[in-house]
Amino acid sequence: MRLGFLASHNGSNLQAILDACKSGAISAIPAIVISNNSGARALERARAATVATAHLSSVTHPMPEDLDQAILDALTANDVDLVVLAGYMKRLGPKTLAHYRGRVVNTHPALLPKYGGVGFWGARVHEAVLASGDKATGITIHVVDEQYDEGPIIAQREVPVLPGDDVDTLTARVKAAEHPFFVETIGRIAAGELKLPSS
Ligand code: GRF
Repeated sequence: MRLGFLASHNGSNLQAILDACKSGAISAIPAIVISNNSGARALERARAATVATAHLSSVTHPMPEDLDQAILDALTANDVDLVVLAGYMKRLGPKTLAHYRGRVVNTHPALLPKYGGVGFWGARVHEAVLASGDKATGITIHVVDEQYDEGPIIAQREVPVLPGDDVDTLTARVKAAEHPFFVETIGRIAAGELKLPSS
């Protein structure tokens, strides 16, 4: 299985998956990393792992339909089978979604359907969890459709919210759990153990 990634910023989840592909923990080949942000650490991580990269954004392609086509072309030119959104802050276009329907997965740092959708990203997710008084949060991996953070859920893992938590401590606990969980889930998809439902 060949993996194509889209990532906007840091790429720590990307790194965990790249490492797992290298060690053989995941039986898949990282084929390309695409970012809308030319300065993304995710692109540096890809280069360091000698994985192909592309910067594709509204700067390189001002017309949304051209950007959509360029992303689709980059994925298909690299024979990508599964698209992995690893901190991608943009919506995929209709052509890319249609071509890869049911073959795009995303990780979200909360137990969807809670704390998802427009505006729920980064620290805001964890702030909302803390404000709610919930005793647990977690990670959701789901198939991507046209809406932010919707689409069939394929795996979830709970992470406790502890007394005295602030945004930093909760972010760190969720992130620490997210890396192995995302790796494990991509590994199960690549091994054919986890079948993706159509979105
Ligand atoms: C992760 O927390 C993920 O759940 C969310 O974006 C974040 C990306 O972090 N979709 P990183 O770039 O992998 O460090």
